Amino acid sequence: MSLVRRAVELAARLLPDRDPDPLLGRTDLVQGRALTRLDGPLKVTGQAPFTQDVTVPGLTHAAMVCATRPAGRIATIEVAEAEAAPGVLLVMTHRNAPPMKAPPLLITLKGASFTRAPVMQDDRIRWNGEPVAVVVAETAEQARHAAGLIQVGYAGNGPAPVVDFAAELGRARRAANVQGERTRIAKGDVGRARAAAEHVVDHLYRTPMHYNAAIEPHVTVARWDDADRLTVWDATQAVTHTQLTLAEVFGVPAGNVRVIAKFVGGAFGSKMIWSHQLLCAGAARLLGRPVRAVLTREEVFRVTGGRTPSEQRVTLAANTAGGLAALSHEGTTAIGIDDNGFAEQFTFPARNLYASDTLLVDQHVLELHMPANASMRAPGDSIGSFALECAIDELAERLGVDPVEFRTRLEPDRNPATGRPFSARHLPEALAHGADRFGWDRRDPVPRSTRRGEWWVGHGMAVCNYPYVRMPNGKAAITLRADGRAVVRTAAHEMGMGTATVQAQHAADRLGLPIGAVTFEYGDSAMPAGIPAGGSAQTASIIAAVTAAAGRLVKTLLDLAPGGSVLAGARPRDVELRDGGLYRRDGGPGLPYPALLHAAGRDEVTAEGTESLPLEMMKYSMQSFGAQFCQVRVSEVTGEIRVDRWLGVFDTGRVLNPTTAAGQFRGGIVMGLGQALTEEVAVDGRNGRIMNPSLAHYHVPVHADVPPIDVDWLGHPDPLAPMGGHGVGEIGITGVAAAIANAVHNAAGIRLRSLPMTPARVLPALIEAG
Ligand code: MOS
Repeated sequence: MSLVRRAVELAARLLPDRDPDPLLGRTDLVQGRALTRLDGPLKVTGQAPFTQDVTVPGLTHAAMVCATRPAGRIATIEVAEAEAAPGVLLVMTHRNAPPMKAPPLLITLKGASFTRAPVMQDDRIRWNGEPVAVVVAETAEQARHAAGLIQVGYAGNGPAPVVDFAAELGRARRAANVQGERTRIAKGDVGRARAAAEHVVDHLYRTPMHYNAAIEPHVTVARWDDADRLTVWDATQAVTHTQLTLAEVFGVPAGNVRVIAKFVGGAFGSKMIWSHQLLCAGAARLLGRPVRAVLTREEVFRVTGGRTPSEQRVTLAANTAGGLAALSHEGTTAIGIDDNGFAEQFTFPARNLYASDTLLVDQHVLELHMPANASMRAPGDSIGSFALECAIDELAERLGVDPVEFRTRLEPDRNPATGRPFSARHLPEALAHGADRFGWDRRDPVPRSTRRGEWWVGHGMAVCNYPYVRMPNGKAAITLRADGRAVVRTAAHEMGMGTATVQAQHAADRLGLPIGAVTFEYGDSAMPAGIPAGGSAQTASIIAAVTAAAGRLVKTLLDLAPGGSVLAGARPRDVELRDGGLYRRDGGPGLPYPALLHAAGRDEVTAEGTESLPLEMMKYSMQSFGAQFCQVRVSEVTGEIRVDRWLGVFDTGRVLNPTTAAGQFRGGIVMGLGQALTEEVAVDGRNGRIMNPSLAHYHVPVHADVPPIDVDWLGHPDPLAPMGGHGVGEIGITGVAAAIANAVHNAAGIRLRSLPMTPARVLPALIEAG
């Protein structure tokens, strides 16, 4: 841990907690109500403008040519035929591409890229799928046709590329850090505890590479207005950081770059900066006309990255009498071709969940010549929870203890890894409530005890865990108009999760206005700087920024209040925003907003605020928890696993909108079904070519795979989180694969430790089990 971080942590510990938000005690809030999405009608009537719909005068269309080798060099590249093809305006290769600096990394919070690999600046090939040429034409079809006419000749040289994760694990090295946390934590002597224990579970768990597979592929429109003013419409979950990236890459001031993303058709971590945005803007600059670049579904798998493969080892030891004597979770994930520092946090559940006499967590990384490892819904935590929660289930069985009861017994007093106190943790309650709601007591704990025709039927559960995150430096502006309406603006993102709705609810409560009087505007880097929609952090960060802006608004309004009015002489702490105006506290007198503005002769006032530093994260262990329960059946004939029933119970603090939160939880669970049962990127170990770059061959869950999903939550506010709520975007996927694997064991008596649990893995295990 760096000295700076240590110093900040120490300072955070010494600082008092913030005063509780007065809104938290109120029962009349718009927040907490089950509002359907405010942008829903626009979407279902086809009026919501997605990036694909953006058109500007003179728009041209790009198509890419991607390398078919993982390494080596471009020896020859024949472009004459493409240049002569109908409608073609430009063929861009490394020979004529404009200078572009390496993009800054997302983890530095100064950019949005998962790789610093230079884009089309030399003849080197860095992964199989790297763009080597861009064709721009009058129509997309002309560009695609001409791209097919380009011939690339490769020259192989240099060391063999590293593409086969399983075969190359010996090259892994210890991660520098894990999402800013210490890589290796050892408490006590795990080896000795294990040797002395009566029961030991020690297994390897393997998960494959995954792709986010958002329904809307990546798409960008770039227009230069003169030599150094760039406007980009982009399907992105990081407008501000895309702006910063483009400014850095093209060497122009950030203020000259504007990035707009009004609606995004799913992202799950994938809609960050990849080479297509840089190539699109580079081609537009070279051509002097606006360019649209849309990735094909195949190119999503070639040009962008996905979730790391992993090999994890979990060792648990216990004595018959009780709790864990040892908990160890180690393993390896992939990182980007140029060490993008993105070591996925698969050991976080082991750090956060259970009391153990001894603890060891450690992470290694392997640099692959593959599309850079990137973020996909609960990166690390989802695959880490698979390994840990399967091992816990196995140990509980060994001890003859019910798995819900066993986890309840392992409840720690403080964070097991850091020793910090929990801000709010109600995992035992989530377990008990879930067991009750699911009817867990009716489960037969003996494996292979229920059979219906060809199907073995069983039940399983697992715990979920995801950190609370609030990112620093989010800004928001509130404009209050003389007609009594308010507009809240921040460079945030609506990717389908309900941001716009929940933030309108919060702003209405914060300003004391009906929700119909509030407009929440977002998706434009010209607005006050936002944080990426990532780490399930956006909601809390925006609420904190709007709260700060509202604090500034109070001061502005007090300055406007006429002398001699009921507000004369009031200080900020004497007043509050409520009932459509500024009033003295405790039911005292005040003035409605229109009266205040009219008296000052103003049409509108604007106040901007920056969220406070997220010091709460350094002082406390802030986590979300939950429990997943399911019923599955396993066909003895085909090895097929079907999931018939699901319950997720979540402990994520206060839920700000039951409708949109339930959608997030369910979406995460559905994605977990894919992770558990069907999703797997197949990589050709000889050349790093992804062999299934399509939704026909990369199998995401379809409706027939998804059972009725019951979700519920405890809703206890976390007093340290803005409005008492934690993010809900990612926790839903955690624990899903483990719950299914544990249910499969209960059904059919087999332990599956590699994902996905396809018939090809199930059948041999069934045969072996007899
Ligand atoms: Mo998320 S994987 O932080 O969009």
